[in-house]
Amino acid sequence: MQIHVTSGAPGALRAGALVVPVFADGRLDGAAQAADSELGGALADVLTSGEIKGNAGETALVHAASHGIKRVLLVGLGKRETFEIASLAKYAGAAVRHLGKRNVTAIAFALPLEAAGDDEHAASFVVEGALAGTIDGTTYRTEPDKPILLENIDLVATAGAHEFDRAALAAGIERGRVIGEAVNFARILALTPANDMTPKHLEAHAAEIAKKVGLEFHALDEAQMLEKKMGSILGVARGSDEEARMIVLEYHGDPSSSEKLALVGKGLTFDSGGISIKPAQDMHEMKYDMCGGAGVLAAMLAIGELKPKVNVIGIVPSSENLPGPRAMKPGDILRAMNGKTIEVINTDAEGRLILADALCYARELGATKIVDAATLTGAMVVALGHSAAGTMSNDDAFRERFIEVSKQTTEKYWPLPLYDEHSVTVKSEIADLRNSAGRAAGSLTAAAFLKAFVGDTPWIHLDIAGTAYTDSETASLAKGPTGYPVRAFVALAEDVAKSAAANGVAHNGATKALVK
Ligand code: BES
Ligand code: MN
Ligand code: ZN
Repeated sequence: MQIHVTSGAPGALRAGALVVPVFADGRLDGAAQAADSELGGALADVLTSGEIKGNAGETALVHAASHGIKRVLLVGLGKRETFEIASLAKYAGAAVRHLGKRNVTAIAFALPLEAAGDDEHAASFVVEGALAGTIDGTTYRTEPDKPILLENIDLVATAGAHEFDRAALAAGIERGRVIGEAVNFARILALTPANDMTPKHLEAHAAEIAKKVGLEFHALDEAQMLEKKMGSILGVARGSDEEARMIVLEYHGDPSSSEKLALVGKGLTFDSGGISIKPAQDMHEMKYDMCGGAGVLAAMLAIGELKPKVNVIGIVPSSENLPGPRAMKPGDILRAMNGKTIEVINTDAEGRLILADALCYARELGATKIVDAATLTGAMVVALGHSAAGTMSNDDAFRERFIEVSKQTTEKYWPLPLYDEHSVTVKSEIADLRNSAGRAAGSLTAAAFLKAFVGDTPWIHLDIAGTAYTDSETASLAKGPTGYPVRAFVALAEDVAKSAAANGVAHNGATKALVK
């Protein structure tokens, strides 16, 4: 795919369509205004007609072949005063899906740079959203839906009141491309059904990424996990003939530092519930139970390309959860890598079991900060629905920073409490822990369970059960996986790199005292 910045007259574009943003105030500015004058006021006419008011998500298509621009798609951005730059991803995604389904393969986007106030991010969000819009979930059909082929993207910047910065736009394009491609990679892994996406398949994809962008890769098979005493993930794996894996990718962006950020993602390639089997209704969606793991692999891919100055390790515990003849049973007691014993109350609470060993392993591999993402609890969907992921932590400052950083992305994270009483609730009468503590505060007791495996390492847990996938198509995104938590993971890695640089870096602890 080709992506260019254009600052000339929109009429000179070779694009099949020009996409123009309109705000609810109906005022056309910048590239939108330039297009309007070129079309002899045709766009202003559409606005006066009331056919489109500029409300978020509205679209109107104008054919204008006689003016050199074949089609103009007006896309509403809502109120100018409350405009958020990240919404440009939806702006672009909606346009790509609308036009792409109508065979348009080259699209020019007018950038609302004045309203955005940040050229790099404006370009980045448009490119990210455009790429995300191309995904099609019907590739397994012998006759798939007409694929959205996007061969060419032009970003139209107009020097008006706002002098645009060409270098910033170019940097934004590159960033948007890397993130958009990583997001799509995670989504395609998740869309792949469980018969084609086993722990071994996930491992093969990790190995491929490592080769592509130069990361260190290793994966533990079941025998190696047994040697490491990872009895918790092995308990889950027993019910399936598919071998489990502990997949690891390492990026050494700052070899002189002992700081290491660990990204850990639940890679349950299919969750039937095990002996505590799930109802048939919606069970097929449990092929998405590896979205956290896919997100880690994709984030490592993006980090390998963007090369922030920080060490990052990605860990994906991966298994199926099936009720095979050797499956773990309710009442069984497992022993995790750190020696803690776990009473299995409900075999469907398997995510926390595979994560327990992964979190221990992260610490063994030298993690100084840990963030995990998991489609962990149905209770999360009840609490926050599909709009934000619950965010729990043992370190308030780290979490605040993460949530702040995530605001620079299209993903949303919302803080939830983690009290000592939640840790009390997950204690077992006969073992150290129990893997289920009933219905009350299900997402928080799940987090409290994980907390028992991170010790004093600063840690954040993201429950993405409600945000990792959708069950219906939106204007800007196909039905299915959304790409959570790829964008926030990448943004966090970059932020850790940036703040290390700003602090003069506490390399190997040597200058730590000076920093404080
Ligand atoms: N993967 C599920 C959580 C889930 C449910 C994600 C629905 C997305 C949509 C997880 O493994 C699970 O089954 N959790 C149980 C825990 C319970 C048994 C304590 C749940 O939420 O019901
Ligand atoms: Mn489950
Ligand atoms: Zn699960």
